[in-house]
Amino acid sequence: MKKITILTAFVIATCAVNSFAQTVVKKSTRTTTVVKKTTTTAAAGKVSAVTLEQGKQLLAKNDCLSCHKVDVKIVGPAYKDVAKKYPANAENYEKLTQKVIAGGSGVWGEVPMSAHPSVPPADIKKMVQYILSVK
Ligand code: HEC
Repeated sequence: MKKITILTAFVIATCAVNSFAQTVVKKSTRTTTVVKKTTTTAAAGKVSAVTLEQGKQLLAKNDCLSCHKVDVKIVGPAYKDVAKKYPANAENYEKLTQKVIAGGSGVWGEVPMSAHPSVPPADIKKMVQYILSVK
């Protein structure tokens, strides 16, 4: 009888420890997700006012404004529409920088954007960061 009691106590204790451990794991997973989200927002928000201003000026220095305006579609989409489509985050900065370098069509219509192989990628990234900030 004593043995059974000890065994039962052991089983109960094991279950308790188990479910406690699971709660801890769940909690820590949740914390990780929250931390990740904060990091993404912080990364997007990290673009300084100086960088955005440089991006804006680079658009004017390059040929971009002959095909794009901030709020009206000309040959290319309005930058406001581009900003609506893509949230400002590291992934989209990279993706759109590559698109501007390579040029191409298919996302907004059949008309292609010219390629920009001779513009420094760092400059293009600043322009993209500015574009995704116009909302
Ligand atoms: C010859 C006209 C033209 C020029 C010059 C031009 N664009 Fe574009 N741009 C377009 C067109 C057309 C599209 C839509 C392409 C598509 O549908 O895939 C576009 C699309 C884009 C997009 C969105 C891409 C996507 O996949 O959603 C960005 C960002 C962009 N242009 C930035 C720039 C920047 C920065 C410059 C200057 C370095 C520039 N464009 C110069 C015509 C142009």
